[in-house]
Amino acid sequence: MKRDERAVLFEREVLSPDACLLHFRSESLFRSFLPGQFTMVRLPETSGLLLRRPYSFCDVRAEHSSFSLLVKEVGEGTRALARLAIGTSVDCLGPLGSSFRPPPNDRTPLIVAGGVGIAPFLAFCRMLARRGQRAIVLLGGRTSADLYLRGEFLSLGMDVRSATEDGSFGHEGLVTDVLAEVLNGKTSFELYSCGPTPMLVRVARMARERGLPHQVSLERRMGCGMGCCLGCVVFVHSTNEYVRCCTEGPVYDADEVAWERDPYPL
Ligand SMILES: Cc1cc2nc3c(=O)[nH]c(=O)nc-3n(C[C@H](O)[C@H](O)[C@H](O)COP(=O)(O)OP(=O)(O)OC[C@H]3O[C@@H](n4cnc5c(N)ncnc54)[C@H](O)[C@@H]3O)c2cc1C
Ligand code: FES
Repeated sequence: MKRDERAVLFEREVLSPDACLLHFRSESLFRSFLPGQFTMVRLPETSGLLLRRPYSFCDVRAEHSSFSLLVKEVGEGTRALARLAIGTSVDCLGPLGSSFRPPPNDRTPLIVAGGVGIAPFLAFCRMLARRGQRAIVLLGGRTSADLYLRGEFLSLGMDVRSATEDGSFGHEGLVTDVLAEVLNGKTSFELYSCGPTPMLVRVARMARERGLPHQVSLERRMGCGMGCCLGCVVFVHSTNEYVRCCTEGPVYDADEVAWERDPYPL
């Protein structure tokens, strides 16, 4: 159920020079989100920012009644959130949007995540671990500093492989090179992806060529987050129309997405 809740920042973990993991204590949000869903965060009025910004729920710590958000500083909103003082409370609207569906037991979850697209998969892997499923997690970034939360995925027992464009960690090149290698083996995978659009398009193509199911999470720019402004639309094949990423998404079957009609071209 959608609700607007105050959440208090109580811990900041620095992940890289421009990214951090923020832990928020909340009454009930930590209990109610599904992996893949997101929250629209409104900063205190003193920040001067009127519009809320969308962030994936990244993880949950039931023992602290808290959830965490991974924030990469790219502009005014993310910079203000990342630098919020400990003890500050923010308005969080959510949980919003669709979520990742776990695969049937006879399919191995194969996750391809790049940059902040890594965020929604920690909670998802926690869910898979509880179900006794071990995912292969492919993390991609420009440098090793962008391979957020690698240790956490490993500690959940996931099979983690990495790629960096500068070769500072793992395979030197794109995460889709590693995906191609993995796909040369078994065929009973269910793919999941989130990250930069060029990466998502490549993963979608590779999954389609092999007839593999693929759930993709799209990170559109969002105004309202509630289906009112139509600022976040995505063209889908099944109904031949634009649907709202904040409401019908952000998680879609990748074959549904008309990548060639994307209003935000690569
Ligand atoms: C469903 C969803 C989940 C998201 N989860 C996360 C998350 O877990 N962690 C995180 O750090 N970010 C996440 N984002 C992206 C985040 O919302 C944007 O980076 C943020 O709104 C930018 O706000 P800003 O004021 O800092 O940047 P602005 O000043 O508005 O823009 C700065 C730069 O960021 C780009 N930008 C703005 N919005 C987006 C966007 N939605 N996607 C990609 N680039 C954008 C702009 O084109 C511009 O180049 C998510 C977005 C969506 C839609
Ligand atoms: S952000 Fe307003 S309709 Fe989706």
